[in-house]
Amino acid sequence: MDLPKHIGIIMDGNGRWAVNRGLKRSEGHKEGGKTLEKIALYAKNIGIKYLSVYAFSTDNFKRSEEEVNYLMDLLIYYFNNKLERVCKDNIKVVFSGRRDNLRKDVMEAMDNIILKTQNNTDCVLNICLNYGGEEEIVDASIKLANDLNQGLVKKEDINRDSFYKYLYQDLPPIDLLIRTGKEKRLSNFMLYQMIYAEIYFSDLYFPDFREKDLDDALKFFEERDRRFGGVKTD
Ligand code: IPE
Ligand code: IPE
Ligand code: MG
Repeated sequence: MDLPKHIGIIMDGNGRWAVNRGLKRSEGHKEGGKTLEKIALYAKNIGIKYLSVYAFSTDNFKRSEEEVNYLMDLLIYYFNNKLERVCKDNIKVVFSGRRDNLRKDVMEAMDNIILKTQNNTDCVLNICLNYGGEEEIVDASIKLANDLNQGLVKKEDINRDSFYKYLYQDLPPIDLLIRTGKEKRLSNFMLYQMIYAEIYFSDLYFPDFREKDLDDALKFFEERDRRFGGVKTD
């Protein structure tokens, strides 16, 4: 089977999942957390090397303080309580996003899981937190401008491949993007890495997304004819 090396997931629909059941939106986030656990483990077990998940966007700060705080508390809970499991499963956790305006306790929990998992080798789980794709390109450009000014890089060495090392994480481009929750948009997710991503939309709300649904997305991926701008040769 032709597996994607890097999968991205826009985990959308937690709020609607909860509201449809007469529950608070926070209940949807809690269920979404459980789903991520299952999916991340499954992805690793079938041999996916890179998984990037959209946990919180820079624009999600527009939500109520109550919802933002609930989400941050939930993230801390996961970083602290699932650490042992993540290590046992040899998963390396990294983050993409802006650290400024994150709560101090969130940053501490992030730093701890980064440190404890840094030597894990089976796969990389890239958690996009306070993340925006435009912001990533802007922040990368600033880093690059600084390196240019200091003579650390030459203008002729800058190209579409070398630009990756200025992004929050130096990961390969996304092969398969999955967006749950019925919407058909990118919502500022990994714009640079999305260059030739195959895009799979699922009508399921994220808490309802299961391993078999990932299988469906992988089947969709396998059936694609990826030409990368060229012409099919066989
Ligand atoms: C995605 O679910 C999770 C986050 C954005 C943190 P939503 O909270 O966006 O759920 P809907 O789209 O409102 O249903
Ligand atoms: C994208 O979902 C962000 C995450 C899944 C974390 P949103 O719910 O924020 O996106 P829009 O507002 O529907 O575009
Ligand atoms: Mg949403």
